[in-house]
Amino acid sequence: MKKKTVSESNRDAWNQALKYHQKARNNSLQIGFKNPKFTTLNRDCDEILINKIKNIGLSVKTIAQMPCNNGRELLSLMQFGVKEAIGFDISDIAISEARELAEISKLNVKFERVDILEIDDKYNSYFDFIYISEGSLQWFPDLNDYFAVVSRLLKKKGKLLIFEIHPFAYFFENGFDIEKGNFEKLTSYFEKSPYNYKDGLDYVGGVEYEAKECYWFMHKISDIINAILQNDIEIQEFDEYNMEMANNDSIKFLDKFPLSYIIVGQKK
Ligand SMILES: C[S@@+](CC[C@H](N)C(=O)[O-])C[C@H]1O[C@@H](n2cnc3c(N)ncnc32)[C@H](O)[C@@H]1O
Repeated sequence: MKKKTVSESNRDAWNQALKYHQKARNNSLQIGFKNPKFTTLNRDCDEILINKIKNIGLSVKTIAQMPCNNGRELLSLMQFGVKEAIGFDISDIAISEARELAEISKLNVKFERVDILEIDDKYNSYFDFIYISEGSLQWFPDLNDYFAVVSRLLKKKGKLLIFEIHPFAYFFENGFDIEKGNFEKLTSYFEKSPYNYKDGLDYVGGVEYEAKECYWFMHKISDIINAILQNDIEIQEFDEYNMEMANNDSIKFLDKFPLSYIIVGQKK
């Protein structure tokens, strides 16, 4: 399958999903970001993230998020004294909402609608810090291509922080019902072919709809680590947590599995 087909299908699918997210959020972000100190990083699991960010220190730094969706996390990160921020995402609807929120907040954040794999060379060695958060990596068929862009955009000694859903949490994407113990429904950790969310991507409002075709890829922890290391980024911290970030009710109580992880890296 062509990489362009994957990106463009995912763009359409995310444009469709964003309308459901916006309906469910009912302008709460537009109201919230009237206060530039508003944050969406206030879930229980964000405490660990915030401590890591404080340790790295974002004061007067130039930062990016890729992909950034509607920019709410990047706008929230501005509270750490960031000088300039740019969010990249392929969804037209996400970027137009992100620009609206930036305008409302008056924070120095810009947003670009672009396929991450095609970010312009003018951003080479531009960023002190790149943030990647939950639900980002699995849209990219080849993580080597993805981390080559991350590495290209980071300054020498620039930092990378990934706060992601653990691949183990994706075992349960096929509607695993723990009470019935239907293990045959688990997605394989080693699955290579893409997965399609037929019921849609409305993890905000929980509405099921006939979703446009999208492509999502299972990446093993070793795939993620190897792709980072092969792109001139040193891994300085790797931690696994049982915190659930995926809004997946069927796995909320599975605290025996790693469900999220943080990687901190530094460009050599
Ligand atoms: C779950 S969000 C991740 C960001 C954030 N953590 C969030 O939850 O909103 C996934 C985002 O990936 C974006 N995306 C998917 N493929 C992309 C690509 N090739 N280039 C840029 N953005 C992409 C989608 O548009 C979507 O906004």
